Amino acid sequence: MQGMNSRAEAAMTQTFIPRVFSGIQPSGGLTLGNYLGAMKRFVDMQADGGFETVYCMVDLHAITVWQNPEDLRRNTRELCAGFIAAGIDPEKSILFNQSQVPEHAQLGCCFNCVARMGWMKRMTQWKDKAGKNSENASLGLFGYPALMAADILIYHATHVPVGEDQKQHLELTRDIAVKFNNDFGVDFFPIPEPVIEGSATRVMSLRDGTKKMSKSDPSDMSRLNMTDGAETLVKKIKKAKTDMDPLPDNLEGLDGRPEAQNLVNIYASLNEMTVQAVIGEFSGQQFGAFKPKLADLAVAKLAPISSEMSRLMQDPAEIDRILARGAERGRALAAPILQKTYDIVGMLR
Ligand code: TYM
Repeated sequence: MQGMNSRAEAAMTQTFIPRVFSGIQPSGGLTLGNYLGAMKRFVDMQADGGFETVYCMVDLHAITVWQNPEDLRRNTRELCAGFIAAGIDPEKSILFNQSQVPEHAQLGCCFNCVARMGWMKRMTQWKDKAGKNSENASLGLFGYPALMAADILIYHATHVPVGEDQKQHLELTRDIAVKFNNDFGVDFFPIPEPVIEGSATRVMSLRDGTKKMSKSDPSDMSRLNMTDGAETLVKKIKKAKTDMDPLPDNLEGLDGRPEAQNLVNIYASLNEMTVQAVIGEFSGQQFGAFKPKLADLAVAKLAPISSEMSRLMQDPAEIDRILARGAERGRALAAPILQKTYDIVGMLR
């Protein structure tokens, strides 16, 4: 995690405390994409030591599309278990559930009045999720990025680790911070930096290397879930789509081979090595030889997380206690920032 401290120092010079915020929706099981693109990097930033780290289960975002209430409760606890099993320490980081810190929704309400309809309409995730039937999509889905900006800015967060698919939302967050500061003639909100780094910023489907790995894909074979046991992981990797060529001896040799590129990226990220080093090790080998190595690695890295998640899930009351404590700590940071925002906007105390 080289460079983190210099980034943290740069934030200091703007007088903002170097603070990381990121969130994950409890809208289904955690995938390998969530883990490699986000969670694993949250753990790195927690370990870096140069930042305060704040991580959140964004249940208010999840309900922008229909969620069965019982599933939502279970998924929120399971996601919390996932954070902890992956290495987030609820003492070192602030770990909580979004709806339990009401300041997110309150600042989101202010930002709904800062963000412009035109900005929202340009969001590719809105276009993808609303599809052709946008008249029938929820207003919450349309306003999703303004709430996301509130999540980040209610903590004056300076750095936001996310996967590639969130880049545009982060740009919109920056636009909202700039517009708020300009409209009110203040230098109140930081302009947060997206942190999109590493070989797994966009983990692709195992069935189609041109599509993102996603929890909403109807085919379970398209993804590795963090709750999959060893046998399932091995089966899914064995069946993953590939091409007939051996692994190349240089990076350019992966161009135009999305499935090969994806599996190599996953290997590199899981084993914390560069894509170049993976190529160096496996160049000339067929997928028949590479896939069992990848499966062994996936089982070694993911199975302990999955079994720790199921252990933690046996004590939901303890998870609820952790989340309540996290929410208390979150509110201690968020409440004064909301109050100051209200003062700037002109609300009576
Ligand atoms: P969500 O819940 O869809 O995904 C959580 C995180 O996982 C990353 N991710 C991936 N990374 C690489 N490859 C993939 N296939 C892949 N799939 C998902 C996402 O980029 C994300 O970092 N809008 C956010 C949640 C959110 C948020 C925030 C994030 C709400 N407020 C404030 C950061 C800051 C989302 O839907 O993530």
